[in-house]
Amino acid sequence: MDKPDARMRISVVEDGPYAVRGGVPLVRLEIATNQEGESVGWREVERIDAGDRYRLCRCGHSAEKPFCDGTHAVEGFDGTETAGHESYAEQSVPIEGPGVRLSDARRLCAEARFCDRAGGLWNLIERCDDPDARDLAEEQATLCPSGRYVLADEATGPFEPELEPSIALVEDPSLGVSGPLWVRGGIPIKDSDGVAYEVRNRVTLCRCGASGNKPFCDGSHIKTGFRDER
Ligand code: FES
Repeated sequence: MDKPDARMRISVVEDGPYAVRGGVPLVRLEIATNQEGESVGWREVERIDAGDRYRLCRCGHSAEKPFCDGTHAVEGFDGTETAGHESYAEQSVPIEGPGVRLSDARRLCAEARFCDRAGGLWNLIERCDDPDARDLAEEQATLCPSGRYVLADEATGPFEPELEPSIALVEDPSLGVSGPLWVRGGIPIKDSDGVAYEVRNRVTLCRCGASGNKPFCDGSHIKTGFRDER
């Protein structure tokens, strides 16, 4: 994966926002769907000039979204980080297929639904001796924003997408909701005690305030109908 600039970092502020440093590019991406309404790709809809340092709302109630306006303090936001510091390897379970292994860390799911096509990624894996099924499995696994899924070839290792080190504000127009902050390209993230989470190419951070696995997204933004109105 692309190496992020060494100055780039994200810190979770206790019961407050995400403090971002190092000129991390900020973009807005929509989940693109096909005629059947299935998630099939990403569409960039905005590039925001956020500067070298900025603070992104984590409670979901800022009037200046995606930026923090201090509302978390007024509302008494409880941003307790309930996620542990286990590595992806410790959180995931393997699903074996012909010549491939799919790792699945269910707890990290951000409900972007790229894995639903053709009967579901977990079923496609069993058919990976068919090149078309294998290609589709690779596409689905690498489109997954949270990195819940990692597909690996037995001989050559994991497939990881090349991602610009950046933060993407995820929008999910087919469900009419806004999703997580998609942290891309291996930008380091520290918890509110300054302890680093495992650096990964794909990570989704909750920005609606409702996740049960803070600071990571768990898909709760869909249940709550979270919207980043612009
Ligand atoms: S943004 Fe997904 S659970 Fe909060």
